[in-house]
Amino acid sequence: MSSTIELPTDFAPMKNDLILRAARGEETERAPVWVMRQAGRYLPEFLAVRKDHTFFECCKTPEIACELTMQPIRRFKGLLDAAIIFCDILVVPEAMGLTVEMNPAPSLPNPIRTPEDLARLPKHVDVNKELGYVFEAVNLTRRTLQGEVPLIGFCGAPWTLMAYMVEGGGSKTYQKAKEWLYRWPEASEELLSRIAAVCVDLLVGQVLAGAQMLQVFDSWANELPPSVYQKFALPPCQYIAREVRSKLKELGHEPVPMTLFAKGANTSLTVLAEESGYDTLGLDWCIDPLEARKLVGSKVALQGNADPMLLYGGQEAIQQEVKKMSERFLAGGGGWIANLGHGVTPQVQVDDFRCFLESVHKYSRRDAGS
Ligand code: CP3
Repeated sequence: MSSTIELPTDFAPMKNDLILRAARGEETERAPVWVMRQAGRYLPEFLAVRKDHTFFECCKTPEIACELTMQPIRRFKGLLDAAIIFCDILVVPEAMGLTVEMNPAPSLPNPIRTPEDLARLPKHVDVNKELGYVFEAVNLTRRTLQGEVPLIGFCGAPWTLMAYMVEGGGSKTYQKAKEWLYRWPEASEELLSRIAAVCVDLLVGQVLAGAQMLQVFDSWANELPPSVYQKFALPPCQYIAREVRSKLKELGHEPVPMTLFAKGANTSLTVLAEESGYDTLGLDWCIDPLEARKLVGSKVALQGNADPMLLYGGQEAIQQEVKKMSERFLAGGGGWIANLGHGVTPQVQVDDFRCFLESVHKYSRRDAGS
């Protein structure tokens, strides 16, 4: 990191550390709960702010990012056990010099098409200069939270970011990104490691600014066969975990729990538990929680994993499914952080979302069955 930014770090003491304990593998009195995309379009107050600002204006204005992060914490007071900073994984490709538009789906009009295009990327990215707004938003939000719940910082995983940078947006087949992996394996590794270097600085910067947990989102892990996932996507994630820990240590900072959400990489779970270097593994909804626990052993905490579409099934179904999910996670033992298996989607009714949180509070108690 070249430039520096000074931020206040005299934070209020924590009133709720449930998620931090679960991430360290503790069997907590009930499961802590948060939801991916909890700051999002299903909330009317989010839409009210968004109508006056572009998506990236929201990310880049610390006061707005803080307000959006706080909205679900305020509305579901006492029900959410963590806040996640409002931002996006695509700020990294932007910091690497690519144009990123949100209209409304992500679009990168000048993608990296061939290995020659790697020359367009800067050799070194000054993260404080390019992404200082993230650190300011994290710092302001941590202070605004006043210790109510821990604040999660995040970034996209190199494979998922590479896919956006090569495809120029989302994709059904990932034809271009996969062509890179198969045709140009060395150039792919070069691109992945350049992305990983920026991710490390972004995560360390968020911790220095006040983030108390970190999550790496590998949303497109499920697109790769296990051997290809383990050859290309996992190593840069391992690098990120190692480097973040060692940089924090060098800086005299306490380590923070780290979560890897390798969406759908369920056949790699045993390898992830043994070799990824993360404290918590995020699960999508396509694996039974007890089965997942058997695959990972006792080394990691697990996060997840209700089907996001369950929230459209009505409150009776939400309660029943959360009860079943809780029984399966509790039967497996170890640390468990309740969440959906992917983000909450825009048409979800706020009361149904609340029902999900309340159901976790009710059914995930260690004494719930007795
Ligand atoms: O509440 C939170 O979870 C924090 C904020 C957050 C956003 N994006 C805000 C956002 C987080 C953690 C992300 C991560 C993200 N962004 C991922 C990984 C998680 C996942 O969903 O797999 C990915 C793949 C992206 C890229 C991205 N950003 C896409 C594909 C889209 C469009 C699809 C959609 O949901 O509309 C976005 C836009 C985006 N990022 C929105 C939000 C709230 C909606 C856009 C809007 O407000 O108009």
